Amino acid sequence: MGRVSVNNLREGMVLEEDLHAPNGRFILGKGAALKDNYIKMFKIWGITGADVEGEEDAEIAGRVALEEEALGTARSYVDSFFPPEDPDDACAAAVRAFCIRRFAEAFSSGAPPALIPQIGSLPRPPEGHFSRSFSSYAMAKNEIRLFSFPDIYFKIQEVISSPVSSATSIAKVVGNDPNLAARILRLVNSSFYGFPNPIQSIPRAIAIIGSNELSSLALAVSTMKVFKNVPPEFVDMKSFWRHSIACGVFSRLLAYAKKRRSEERFFLAGLLHDLGRIILYTKTPREMTYALELSVFEKAPLWRTERRVFGFDHTAVGKVLMEEWRIPGGIGQLCEYHHSPESEDAPEEAAYVHIADYLANALRIGSSGSVYFSRMDRGIVEALELDKGDFEAVLAQGERQIREIMNIFLIS
Ligand SMILES: [Fe+2]
Ligand SMILES: [Fe+2]
Repeated sequence: MGRVSVNNLREGMVLEEDLHAPNGRFILGKGAALKDNYIKMFKIWGITGADVEGEEDAEIAGRVALEEEALGTARSYVDSFFPPEDPDDACAAAVRAFCIRRFAEAFSSGAPPALIPQIGSLPRPPEGHFSRSFSSYAMAKNEIRLFSFPDIYFKIQEVISSPVSSATSIAKVVGNDPNLAARILRLVNSSFYGFPNPIQSIPRAIAIIGSNELSSLALAVSTMKVFKNVPPEFVDMKSFWRHSIACGVFSRLLAYAKKRRSEERFFLAGLLHDLGRIILYTKTPREMTYALELSVFEKAPLWRTERRVFGFDHTAVGKVLMEEWRIPGGIGQLCEYHHSPESEDAPEEAAYVHIADYLANALRIGSSGSVYFSRMDRGIVEALELDKGDFEAVLAQGERQIREIMNIFLIS
């Protein structure tokens, strides 16, 4: 019943009637599915349209108008929280275009992304704020007792740092904790690895991904358990971990794209990069509320307003935590410099976490509190030799992995 003009024909549409060329020649029969190359030929043969099942021009035009409208809304949405665009940065432009498409889909599916918070007047500091002094060291040190790590964490760490550690000893430690072993197996069987055949045991997983990689995963799973009971009035932990997992997945994919060794380190670093913020939220909730409000009012990244409120930001607190917990493999440094990868002391690999954090913030996958974020450092992107295609691939692959890992990690 639907007449569709040739410009609106799309691959996959099914003919409702036989199709003939203007000279009467039979072209395709009723029930045939269109393909892109047929449609190209229709134009050459002077065919102006076809009768297609369940489609007609008016409906298609309506759909296109809706898509255009959703794209317009998504563009304004992105403009309201993205850093100003650098017109010469092709990678940032690719990320922006990807986000606009994703947000347009969200708007048109009736599940729009979260609103961008607004604050109309300059927030006031909490009472007595200026007479207090803050120490990142004292804050983290005092909290360490509150967030005590499970025994399994130290056992894994012991095994990793032992010069005679073997795959068998790691398999034994992990295998003694059935919950941990089950989550690790789900992880190695997910799209995070994309192995064609199921891996059914920890020793098999170690044989395939290596004992260091498996240890990083085990540390990641057991670290997340430590923060399970943070009260929701301080911080929405689900949203926090969603942001952290997104940063971990993107860091790992970026490192993988550039053939860096031991990508699980990058996953762990992404997972832990904003950990210091949990201490700031729980230890100094009034100051953190002030820092958050300031960042919204000024449309500035939260780490910048943290520095003004405390004299340091969450990376300084996270650094102490990670030193105290003896998180191995230079992970602490990858986290410490994720907001300052250009610093002289920063290891080059911190740049992956920096870029991954940018991607997680741009797509608004969870949040560790900040709505606004800084521009991606172009010099750093160029130094890592990442191009537009790398970003497009990492974004496309990352979304599914993030969803799967959220399910694996956040079920109790
Ligand atoms: Fe951060
Ligand atoms: Fe972050």
